[in-house]
Order: sequence, then C-alpha cells, then structure tokens
Amino acid sequence: NNNIVVAIDGYSSCGKSTLAKALAKKLHFIYADSGAMYRSVALYFIRNNVDISNHNEVVKALKNIHLNFHSRDYQTHITLNDEDVSAEIRQMHVADSVSAVAALHDVRVEMVRQQQRMGKSKNVVMDGRDIGTVVFPHAQVKLFMTADPKIRAERRYKELLPTNPSITLEEVFESLAHRDYADTTRKESPLIRAEDAIILDNTDLSPEQQLDFALNLVKPLI
Ligand code: C5P
Repeated sequence: NNNIVVAIDGYSSCGKSTLAKALAKKLHFIYADSGAMYRSVALYFIRNNVDISNHNEVVKALKNIHLNFHSRDYQTHITLNDEDVSAEIRQMHVADSVSAVAALHDVRVEMVRQQQRMGKSKNVVMDGRDIGTVVFPHAQVKLFMTADPKIRAERRYKELLPTNPSITLEEVFESLAHRDYADTTRKESPLIRAEDAIILDNTDLSPEQQLDFALNLVKPLI
C-alpha cells in the first residue's frame, strides 16, 4: 500500500476545507470532510431527540445512521440515510450541538472506522481535528492550521450571512470559541497538533499561497 494520505487538522473555520478541496482537486486525490460526518450524526441526533447521556440510545442511533459522500467537483455532498444534508449541517443549530456529539466514544469509534476505510487504498486529503493523531497517525503529510480567532469569525460570518441575515459577528465568534474550547479539552481524541505536523498559520495568507505551501509538501512524494 503506497497510497498518499494528507491529514489537515486545526481549529474551527481556519480554512481547512478550502485548502483540502483545492489540494485534492489539483492532485486528483479524494477529498474527505470528516467534520461533515460528525455534523450529520449531530443532525440525526437532533431530529430524533437522541439523549446523548444514554449509552444505549446512542449505540442504537448509530446503527441507524448511514453516511455517504458523493463527490461533485470537490464539493462535499453528504447523504444521511440517502437524504442530501450538505446544506443543513452547516446551520448554527448543528454547529452548536456537534461538539458534544463528537465527544462521545461510540460516535468516534464508528466515524474513525469509516474514515480509515476511505484512506486505505486511495490517495486522499482528509480534514478534521484528529486526522493526523488518531485516524491516520502515519499520514505522509500532516498540516496543523491556525489563524487569528477574529479573522476566523469574520470569515465564517460572511459565509453564514446569506442564509442567516439576522446573525451577528459576536454570535459567530462565541460559537467558534465554544467549539474550539470543547474540541481541545475533551477526553476522547482532543484537537492537538501531531508532533510531526507542520503548522500553517493562514491569518495573512491567500488561498493560493496556502495551496502552494501544501503542494510543495506533497509533490515530492508523488
Ligand atoms: O470541521 P467542522 O467544523 O465541520 O467540524 C465540526 C465539528 O465536528 C468540530 O467542531 C468537532 O467537534 C467535530 N470533529 C471532530 N473530529 C473531526 C472532525 C470534526 O471531533 N475529525
């Protein structure tokens, strides 16, 4: 097996998926958005009133969740039991509940299993929180992305505004801060830089500059 895995981890709204998509497109790799999987699980839990403190309920719910990626021009299209939920999982109600769902052991075991299967025999770029530490500890390239929290909130605010005209920048900032705190302090697979991950602070970098940076790391391996 000499397929290449590029692992991109980092805080919320750091531009991980923008870079991962561009990189996958340029290299003709598969792009896998692990966050979309946790968001879809969270959406199922919300819709079905799954009590996350009830282990049996969580296990039962996981058995009824079937996720699939449908790649169309490197945009994430994810289906939850055959329904395309790509748009709904970006909404605030999902963002605000996903970290609690993603902290559950049973949820992580199942998602990691599915993610590892995706990177088994194909070249893949996967972004998330634990890709370089847990999912693919032997990934050939690992990036850890950061950016100024204010810049991140502004970027996410601009993305959300068209579909949420009443949203405020403060709300978005708080929501991101909450998610980063929950993701870095949880017991199970917390967000942490893998020792061999290269830090990419993109506060002052254009998408093109980030892509060049990543391409320079991956190209020598191809
Ligand atoms: O990347 P995105 O912001 O869509 O991820 C949503 C949430 O899913 C994160 O805040 C985190 O709680 C969870 N997540 C995770 N592990 C991953 C990817 C996402 O715990 N590999």
